[in-house]
Amino acid sequence: MQPRREIHGINAAHLARKTRLYLNFGATRATLHALIDTVRADSINCKCVLFQSLTWGKIMLPSIIRRSRLIFFYKRMAAMPDYLFWKLKGSPRPRVPHLIKQRTLREYAKRFQLPVLIETGTQFGQMIDAMEKDFREIYSIELDDANYALAVKNFAGHARIHLLHGDSAVELPKLLQSVSERCLFWLDGHSDKTPIMEELRAVFTHGSYKHAILIDDANCFGSSQFYPTMDAVRELTAQLWPEAVVEVRDNIIRIHPS
Ligand SMILES: C[S@@+](CC[C@H](N)C(=O)[O-])C[C@H]1O[C@@H](n2cnc3c(N)ncnc32)[C@H](O)[C@@H]1O
Repeated sequence: MQPRREIHGINAAHLARKTRLYLNFGATRATLHALIDTVRADSINCKCVLFQSLTWGKIMLPSIIRRSRLIFFYKRMAAMPDYLFWKLKGSPRPRVPHLIKQRTLREYAKRFQLPVLIETGTQFGQMIDAMEKDFREIYSIELDDANYALAVKNFAGHARIHLLHGDSAVELPKLLQSVSERCLFWLDGHSDKTPIMEELRAVFTHGSYKHAILIDDANCFGSSQFYPTMDAVRELTAQLWPEAVVEVRDNIIRIHPS
């Protein structure tokens, strides 16, 4: 008979079954990791109560609201607690809270005087929502039909926000044909693979504009056959924009004029 594997008193197979179930409900891997971390950290005595309340509060509830417009309010309200919780846990890396990403975008917009933001990967519109007051125009490209439809509903009537539907490898070069000023790029449209090399090629060859580029989730680079390595990103930059600075901080790749 197979030995029963337990994680702090919780049957591992049971946890795995639940995890798969919640993933089918659309829970993000981040919420699952948060759940597992908290379950691990807690004592055996309250594991059942904790498990049930967490699955409802951290997984089921978000998976219901992420299909409705409430997700925009939820994301806005959750940003500060998420940051404080991360700080309390000792700022574990590589993941950084959305609030740090927002601060980074503001810092670069100010430093390089960039009035236009171009994002790939709209998802729930959290970055658009946070940046609306900081940019004159915002463009965002989303591949997923449901995310795009929800964003269109949510930002209807926001004349300075332009939502585009499709693969950013295709849509970004098209969009750039009508852009004639320096921009800040937030390249964050990815899933188990990434269109980043096509996106970078499009930005680097966009006239002689010296844009600033921020790319999220540096830890993914080189992590699978579907993500280029950091060396490949540096090589492409050296080839098409040799004077640019390439650096990584807070899990964000930053490519900008020196
Ligand atoms: C990490 S989320 C983006 C989060 C968002 N930028 C923010 O800061 O709040 C990634 C999003 O990229 C989208 N995506 C994945 N591949 C894409 C592609 N090739 N083109 C455009 N969007 C893509 C996914 O559907 C998902 O909504």
